[in-house]
Amino acid sequence: MQRLTNRQIVLGITGGIAAYKSAELTRLLKGAGADVRVVMTPAATEFITPLTLQALSGNPVHLHLLDTEAEAGMGHIELAKWADLVLIAPASADFMARMAAGQGNDLLTTLCLATDAPICLAPAMNQAMWRDDTTQENAKKLEARGVKLFGPASGEQACGDTGPGRMMEPVELAELAAHQFERGLLTGKTVFITAGPTREPLDPVRYISNHSSGKMGYALAEAAIDAGAKVKLISGPVNLAAPDRVERVSVQSAEDMLAASLDGLEQCDIFIASAAVADYRPTAIAEHKIKKGNEEIMELHLVKNPDIVATVASRADKPFTVGFAAETQDVLSYARGKLERKNLDMIVANDVSRSDIGFNSDENAVTLVTADADLELPQASKRQLAGQLIAHIAQSYYKVR
Ligand code: C5P
Repeated sequence: MQRLTNRQIVLGITGGIAAYKSAELTRLLKGAGADVRVVMTPAATEFITPLTLQALSGNPVHLHLLDTEAEAGMGHIELAKWADLVLIAPASADFMARMAAGQGNDLLTTLCLATDAPICLAPAMNQAMWRDDTTQENAKKLEARGVKLFGPASGEQACGDTGPGRMMEPVELAELAAHQFERGLLTGKTVFITAGPTREPLDPVRYISNHSSGKMGYALAEAAIDAGAKVKLISGPVNLAAPDRVERVSVQSAEDMLAASLDGLEQCDIFIASAAVADYRPTAIAEHKIKKGNEEIMELHLVKNPDIVATVASRADKPFTVGFAAETQDVLSYARGKLERKNLDMIVANDVSRSDIGFNSDENAVTLVTADADLELPQASKRQLAGQLIAHIAQSYYKVR
């Protein structure tokens, strides 16, 4: 079920006694890392309360098509676009008939018309209703349009009958939902990425920082998400929006960044340190704005910051750890030195003396250095390069883990 990590699933619930099992299904999907938004038909609310599903999904439940308040939050078209998968469980005979007829007379049918996401139905109804010619025709029509049917299972029914029409069990439905997604290189893995500069305050209005834009780290976060990973992006102050589906933790100083990096580190499989961390910080932060004096020279006292990536890599349960080495000369030899000194598994070396790549630029060119090999990745956009880097990092990670 690892394939459900970061996936956005609309769970449609229609009116049937099996609706009570949708609570368990919601819990399973959520537990497997999916973001679940529940849409209920009016009949479904007769069997299970929206409050239960709201509590289990952690998201508001969507009930009405023509509700101004709900539409102002996430309207039916947005919801249709948001979904990576629409799973309707239970799907009643009435719902299947309305969907087969192309109706859009409630939120769920409208959403099915509007979405480009795959749609899967878990039919659940009395065995005679399932066997009925019209229901069978509707099922075939839907399948011919690419809708997937999960089940129904056969067995004892709530009404006392025995036969086909039982909803499949939630655990089976969650497995089938997971199989609708391809496995990515990092499916099921958790990646922490530090990005951007740090700010080391001098007084309430001033700080020491650097020109790092955070673009490389943010591009890596997107690439890791595309590869199926769960990503925590620990970011210094930058002018970039948080990539979709990434958990961004915003920090200011190196000490904040270290604390955020160590928080939950036991869950981290791969740690990528792309942040430009200030090496030193002022020994003390003045309580009030430092006033200009008569002296021509002002001295600042600085103290060394903790080395975040080295701290992470020094742990007994260290994740696969990747650092960056931005150098202006002897790039590779400095990078190799850092690899060893900081106990890293890989270092991404780049030459920041060139103005066309590196720091604030949209492009970069790097050399990947590991204990036994160097690999040059030629100049490309940071987004493209990030995809290649994640692929190489994943490959090296699986070699040792
Ligand atoms: O030692 P140097 O700053 O050149 O090393 C760069 C690498 O170490 C980068 O991966 C950077 O994110 C990381 N680093 C860190 N904490 C520091 C300094 C650097 O994590 N205090």
